[in-house]
Amino acid sequence: MSHSPIGIFDSGYGGLTVFRSIAEKLPQYDYIYLGDNARAPYGTRSFETVYQYTLECVQWLFEQGCPLVILACNTASAKALRNIQQVNLPRQFPDNRVLGVIRPTAEVIGQYTKSKSVGILATPGTVKSESYRLEIEKFFPDIAVFQQACPLWVPLIENNAFDTPAASLIIEQDIKKLLEQSEKIDTILLACTHYPVLMSQIKRMLPHPLQIISQGAIVAESLADYLKRHPEMETRLSQNASQSFYTTDDALDFETHAPLFFGSTVHAKHVRIG
Ligand code: DGL
Repeated sequence: MSHSPIGIFDSGYGGLTVFRSIAEKLPQYDYIYLGDNARAPYGTRSFETVYQYTLECVQWLFEQGCPLVILACNTASAKALRNIQQVNLPRQFPDNRVLGVIRPTAEVIGQYTKSKSVGILATPGTVKSESYRLEIEKFFPDIAVFQQACPLWVPLIENNAFDTPAASLIIEQDIKKLLEQSEKIDTILLACTHYPVLMSQIKRMLPHPLQIISQGAIVAESLADYLKRHPEMETRLSQNASQSFYTTDDALDFETHAPLFFGSTVHAKHVRIG
């Protein structure tokens, strides 16, 4: 059987938190992870730029033989997924599929909140796109969505500077701004795949215990369900339990930082894109 891995893409390291859950749930498949670290963060970039960068990376993953690519990045899911699905796939890659992380999260968010008030922490790009508000509204019109953009969180995480007193101040301020929007918020969604590495920091900063949701397990469950419902895709995927990691920046840097997000060591290769 030819090598037909599942492609997993993020602007940098964040998608590894999703990949980790996917690999736990579906270890049998082959995977290629691509982090566009050289051009991260995406969260403060324009719609056009995020679309162009994401498309280039998706195309590269298709060229590596991936018939299915997961955008394990909320910003790319918010700003590029619809165009890729509606314009690029039908014209250029009609047999391939690209899935994002926003819809699967919106589909299940109602299971978590009792007060029907959800707080969302995300990049400026994701917040500005209003994707979460729109998607959650489709499934749970009675849930109120409150959003806070956290423009500095991804740069702090990508540069491994998130565990400093200055970073703590910034993170605490953003959480405060979110919670000030409504006393009813009982659930906080980490709507950026980089943020799970801040989980314990965030928990320590909350004025009272709240439910904090990260997306890894949700996306893994949704992918398993998708593959059950789409045997025509599932049977195309090769199953040798292999994992390859690529970064557009320095491979050694990637290998140093990846374990924090992925939970185990990885071997990475550099690739030039764009
Ligand atoms: N992991 C990406 C997300 O989920 C971060 C985007 C960025 O590079 O700013 O939004």
